[in-house]
Amino acid sequence: MQEILDAILNDASGPELQGLPLPETFRAATVHKEDVELFAGLLSEEKDPKKSIHIDQVPIPELAPDEAVVAVMASAINFNTVWTSIFEPLPTFLFLDRLGRESVWGKRHDLPYHIIGSDASGVVLRTGSAVRNWKPGDRVTIHCNYVDDQDPTAHDDSMLAANQRIWGFESNFGGLADLTVVKANQLMPKPAHLTWEEAASPGLVNSTAYRQLVSKNGAAMKQGDVVLIWGASGGLGSYATQFALNGGAIPVCVVSSPQKAEICRSMGAELIIDRTAEGYEFWKNGEQQPSEWKRLGKKIRELTGGDDPDIVFEHPGRETFGASVYVARRGGTIVTCASTSGYWHEYDNRYLWMTLKRIVGSHFANYRESWEANRLIERAAIHPTLSRVYPLDETGQAAYDVHRNLHQGKVGVLCLAPQEGLGVRDPDLRAKHVDAINRFRDR
Ligand SMILES: NC(=O)c1ccc[n+]([C@@H]2O[C@H](COP(=O)([O-])OP(=O)(O)OC[C@H]3O[C@@H](n4cnc5c(N)ncnc54)[C@H](OP(=O)(O)O)[C@@H]3O)[C@@H](O)[C@H]2O)c1
Repeated sequence: MQEILDAILNDASGPELQGLPLPETFRAATVHKEDVELFAGLLSEEKDPKKSIHIDQVPIPELAPDEAVVAVMASAINFNTVWTSIFEPLPTFLFLDRLGRESVWGKRHDLPYHIIGSDASGVVLRTGSAVRNWKPGDRVTIHCNYVDDQDPTAHDDSMLAANQRIWGFESNFGGLADLTVVKANQLMPKPAHLTWEEAASPGLVNSTAYRQLVSKNGAAMKQGDVVLIWGASGGLGSYATQFALNGGAIPVCVVSSPQKAEICRSMGAELIIDRTAEGYEFWKNGEQQPSEWKRLGKKIRELTGGDDPDIVFEHPGRETFGASVYVARRGGTIVTCASTSGYWHEYDNRYLWMTLKRIVGSHFANYRESWEANRLIERAAIHPTLSRVYPLDETGQAAYDVHRNLHQGKVGVLCLAPQEGLGVRDPDLRAKHVDAINRFRDR
């Protein structure tokens, strides 16, 4: 592996990289099937990813014709890494088992360990015989929509494919490793002005926020829309806030501390609600509190000069959903992609039907949407929100930070990259945007 890394660091050509032998094993962050009962009886918040995430040497799987082997320079933590590591809501081995029953190639994924991670930047080392658009030496980022394109259901919107999966969550060989094997239709060009760790970090959340907020498959945000964004300095929210500002909308950012409010302000948002300072209690003794929804609605109108949100960007779920449905404007859209605080949502349906609101479900993004979202990063119209970077050996700690909501924006992980700051090929573009690129660093 050292030889491959040295070659990458020395800008070796594609043919040179192709000529180097692949190692038999590689380093990877995994969870183990034998550990799935590790946290039995504990509350979610007591479960510790440091105990379940291992760093193992694992063998390289055989390469399918439509796949590529990528040397992973950097990856990042997503909340799905947290879910996998605490075995909630299900152990992800169930997904691997199902994939294993699908085909000969799927069978490779059904292993007693799961290599986790749904983001990566790196360099293509090998391509399968059916790959047309990529070659060894290409510098790439990887999106996590893992789709079987032989299925007719994949050919309208690939997120509607009957066997659509999230790479590194519902498939094996994820990005938190020194090597990964991915479908060629997961590859996208690495933004040349970013370091490896910066380039890796937007992947999953940037594409998700793009579909959820911007795409016609999500809320189709337009200029002037008021957008209420929960967790506006978090993984998804930090991109939703940028998309709103970039697209001429008016974000109302909800955060939980003055420090997070400051980050939103520095992105250019003006309307900010600190939910801790406001002390909202949407639930009390197991009951929803409509008076608290109203208090939030009043606060939003105070900030906007009387407007209700055209769009509510939802993901906290049970805790906030009743309030989100209530505060959306007449005819507005509540677009949801998650249920961090619980997936049994409760809301007053009178506020939905009588005022003609819509709830839209959204999940990751198709290749085209991911490509568009990546293109905005390449053009420096949207910036990474990387706050902290850990080495691969400390993936457990990195996931712990995200699980405990101790982080801002995105938490990165160095895989093969020996240090931060490498991989930039367009220093001029970087220099123009360096403050925005570093906005979340060390917060
Ligand atoms: N379907 C998909 O494709 C998809 C893709 C990405 C993520 N997700 C899911 O979306 C969720 C968020 O992901 P993320 O990467 O943005 O996570 P994150 O980085 O942890 O950010 C989420 C933010 O939400 C806020 N929040 C958390 N609990 C809350 C609550 N009870 N009430 C109000 N606000 C709350 C927090 O911000 P404050 O403390 O500042 O308010 C937190 O920083 C996760 O469940 C993840 O699995 C789904």
